[in-house]
Amino acid sequence: MRVVGNRSGVRRFAAMSIYRIPERKGTDPVNTDLINLIKKYDHPGPRYTSYPPAPVFSPEFGPQAFREAVTEVERTPSHADLSLYLHIPFCDTLCYFCGCTTIITQNTEHLNRYLGYLYREIDLLAGVVNDQRRVLQLHLGGGTPTYLAPSQITELGNYLHKSFAVRGDAELSVEVDPRDITHAHLKALRDVRFNRISLGVQDFDLNVQRAVNRNQSELVTRQVIDWSRELGFSSLNIDLIYGLPLQTVDSFTRTLEKVIDISPERIAVYNFAYVPWIKKQQKLIHGEDLPSAETKLQILSKTIDMLTRAGYIYIGMDHFARPDDELTVAQKTKTLHRNFQGYSTRAGSDLYGLGMSAISHFGTYYAQNVKTLQEYYHALEQGDFATHVGYKMTFDDEIRKFVIMRLMCDLTLSKRTVEEKYSITFDDYFRESMIKLTPLLDDRLIISEDEALAVTPEGRLFLRNIALCFDAHASTSPRPTPVYSRTV
Ligand SMILES: C[S@@+](CC[C@H](N)C(=O)[O-])C[C@H]1O[C@@H](n2cnc3c(N)ncnc32)[C@H](O)[C@@H]1O
Ligand code: SF4
Repeated sequence: MRVVGNRSGVRRFAAMSIYRIPERKGTDPVNTDLINLIKKYDHPGPRYTSYPPAPVFSPEFGPQAFREAVTEVERTPSHADLSLYLHIPFCDTLCYFCGCTTIITQNTEHLNRYLGYLYREIDLLAGVVNDQRRVLQLHLGGGTPTYLAPSQITELGNYLHKSFAVRGDAELSVEVDPRDITHAHLKALRDVRFNRISLGVQDFDLNVQRAVNRNQSELVTRQVIDWSRELGFSSLNIDLIYGLPLQTVDSFTRTLEKVIDISPERIAVYNFAYVPWIKKQQKLIHGEDLPSAETKLQILSKTIDMLTRAGYIYIGMDHFARPDDELTVAQKTKTLHRNFQGYSTRAGSDLYGLGMSAISHFGTYYAQNVKTLQEYYHALEQGDFATHVGYKMTFDDEIRKFVIMRLMCDLTLSKRTVEEKYSITFDDYFRESMIKLTPLLDDRLIISEDEALAVTPEGRLFLRNIALCFDAHASTSPRPTPVYSRTV
């Protein structure tokens, strides 16, 4: 079987300005090299939306530790601003590919009950947060937040504005499932100041949609986009997934053509995280329908080719943005950050996660809420926070987090900056990491110079592998089974 499409397709891939792969000696350099590299580095690894990654968090860090940690951080916050994440876990139907924390129910009574507990948690948090602080970023994620009725969205938005001071220029974003959403939902979101919208599309192909139990017509998706533009949402993101069952290069090309025609500000093209040993619903996917590793690579190469030709910039780690989008500008000015939602322009501030399974990161602490409704309700009935696990970072974690995040966001790292910031000698401190990095240096996925490390254009596909070399917890994960999806 030919591995990467036809030669002209491969040449186009090689010739892209943003993603140019250095020419090497030989007759078919890009094709063979890239496939071999993908095969070589395709093994499980964290996505580094946090460092250390969540499996390191400890159950010894419970509600009391959370309260004490928040109180400590809020006494002398290092930033004036806050970020909030709210998790609405419910969905109407189950997408077989889903890797999110969801509860499938047709009983909308659950939503009212959940909101009642969420308000209790908001009250608890507002009671300990320094009242001088204002919210700069708020993200409503799921599950499917738009499973809430418009009146519930209004009520939740008002509750948040009553409980926290939200800056006039704050970014309020929401994850939207275009199926079953009405104009009234979007209007309710705008009225409580949501200004960014992220639509789950995944794939427009009807066969793929059937294979993952997600029927979503293009018409419905376009209608929601038209409404959101009319209502003045300033930024639209579309989520796609590659690696889904029955996907082919041709079918995904057609999906990409439609997305390019819609012209969202941002596009996320996620690698299907296939972890059926964790997400049982993925067992409903017929293994034989999954595209081969070679087809996935062809789809990825086609995606990068088409989106960059259409004017999008490949930010890294699945994300594309228009050249004038804040994400692109932030990458250029080295002010891009990474948090649990992926890349962000507004970080540095403490993040508090509310709702079942939500994750917080404030000061040097991480904490995650319980992952079942029963436990969530029980904790709040006791007047407690619903913390399930948590972690206090060591000084070593802070240094490594800085290195990993700068490499993933800026694609370069100044060794001097690390040395000055943390009073260490980079080459001594990271001797072991640099040894682990050797194969990636040899493969020119990253370049090491006296002063700096720089990810090469082809290295953007291997950011998780690069980060893994700086991860001191990688080999000490307490979990016996693999907890991560594949890195490439
Ligand atoms: C919470 S959902 C978005 C909102 C809404 N629930 C929906 O599906 O339209 C977040 C996104 O995660 C991505 N996602 C979910 N499961 C995934 C998986 N197993 N691998 C990769 N991406 C996944 C999808 O692109 C999805 O749009
Ligand atoms: S992909 Fe979205 S709609 Fe589908 S089950 Fe997951 S969270 Fe729910």
